[in-house]
Amino acid sequence: MLRRIVLIVVLASLASGLASGAKALDGDPIAGKSIFQRICQNCHSAEIGINKVGPSLWNIVGRQPAAVPDYVYSEGMKTNKTPWTAAALDTYIADPRGDVHGVKMYFKGLADGKERADVVAYLSTLK
Ligand code: HEC
Repeated sequence: MLRRIVLIVVLASLASGLASGAKALDGDPIAGKSIFQRICQNCHSAEIGINKVGPSLWNIVGRQPAAVPDYVYSEGMKTNKTPWTAAALDTYIADPRGDVHGVKMYFKGLADGKERADVVAYLSTLK
């Protein structure tokens, strides 16, 4: 009996893990744009060649970190070699300073997984 309960709990947490994984992939770019404008745009431009406190985020999805030529990155970001896939962006935006050690992005992160998925969906449109 106890074993069956444990099994059910394990299966239920696996299922919810899969559901939240799926959510990260199908964010809403329109909702993401307004989150970007409200939060990220204080420090980032979505246009090519325009750096603010942070580098331009134009074409960020899929590229290498620290790749904007005329932006001075932290050592932490320069040694980060993980490409900015949707999954890598999701992890970074959740906790920038915990994910990439020594990063100079003074931003506590977006705790809400749905908001992160939306922002990443919007970033994917910047091409
Ligand atoms: C308070 C300013 C600030 C805010 C707010 C901010 N960022 Fe940043 N961001 C930075 C800085 C500064 C860097 C450069 C980090 C480094 O070199 O260590 C950066 C770097 C990045 C990078 C890596 C860029 C690259 O070229 O490799 C991504 C991706 C990013 N930010 C996404 C976001 C997103 C998405 C948001 C909004 C949810 C956001 N940031 C909010 C300041 C900010």
